[in-house]
Amino acid sequence: MEATLEQLRTQALAELDAAGSEPAVEAVRVKYLGRAGSISLLSEGMKTVSKEDKPRIGKLLNEVRSQVTAAIDARKAALQESRDAAAFADLDTTLPGAPAWRGALHPMTLLLDRAVRIFRRMGFALADGPDIETEWHCFDALNTPPDHPARNEQDTFYLPDGRLLRTQTSTIQVRTMEAQPPPVRVIGPGAAYRRDEIDATHLAQFNQMEGLYVDRGVTLADLKGTVEFFFRELLGSAAQVRFRPHFFPFTEPSFEIDIKAPALGGDRWLELAGCGMVDPAVFEAINARRGDNAYDPEKISGWAFGFGIERLAMITSAVPDIRYFIENDIRFLEQFR
Ligand code: DAH
Repeated sequence: MEATLEQLRTQALAELDAAGSEPAVEAVRVKYLGRAGSISLLSEGMKTVSKEDKPRIGKLLNEVRSQVTAAIDARKAALQESRDAAAFADLDTTLPGAPAWRGALHPMTLLLDRAVRIFRRMGFALADGPDIETEWHCFDALNTPPDHPARNEQDTFYLPDGRLLRTQTSTIQVRTMEAQPPPVRVIGPGAAYRRDEIDATHLAQFNQMEGLYVDRGVTLADLKGTVEFFFRELLGSAAQVRFRPHFFPFTEPSFEIDIKAPALGGDRWLELAGCGMVDPAVFEAINARRGDNAYDPEKISGWAFGFGIERLAMITSAVPDIRYFIENDIRFLEQFR
């Protein structure tokens, strides 16, 4: 039996050496170690071996079985390795690789981040408020009477319970003053909603940024200085700012802010924002709600501004159609990374 085992060992190892493919290796495995393989059959023959011989022959049997098993694994690994090597043979690893596609921030996010950073440097904190608002926060507190056209059903999305989608981020002014006494110095970026027909310059959902500064002795000069600083940081020091008298219910006096800058293609004034001194009626509405006189119009004053972020992005990046910002066409977005 020992001689047979030795012979099987030599034979199996020689056949493995000669096996040139995985199926050939597998055939050798079945031939020797399979259920009816010759080494397996010899194991069964152990029953008939005498007691004295058993330990010696058993040991040899185990040795042969594990040696052949190891040789099978080694042969398979070697075959796999030469297959891999062949697959890579034509690969020139010194060539430059193809760059991986990287994501990037949306142009609106990039612009908003820049704007927020500029205001933060001047000490403004970020404020916010809900997109679904009460009529009081969106209109009444902002000195906008019930018969004002902005409150019309054709202009505003009303919910069945009487609340609405805010038509302006000026609600954030109201929310902030309701929650804290002066001094207040905040910016409030966020979405606004209007029942507008969607076209090249209108979306039913767009973004605005609000600003509010309230303290003792705040003047129109502070407003002008802040707005000028902001636009010069954003558009370059040659940017010019013009205040043009206008009307908003919640500011008195009110202005529209026009900008002229080489970065915006030259010598045309572009209307970019609304602003003004907070109307005392707004402070009174806040006081009534708070139940105190924290915003006493005799003692404090303030200013506010608001502008459309898409509109600013369109002007600063020469984008002709506002709809590009929501279509998520990579060819458009990629230009701003
Ligand atoms: N809320 C105004 C709008 O949506 C913009 C605006 C104008 C905001 C004047 C202000 C402001 O804070 O003082 O058209």
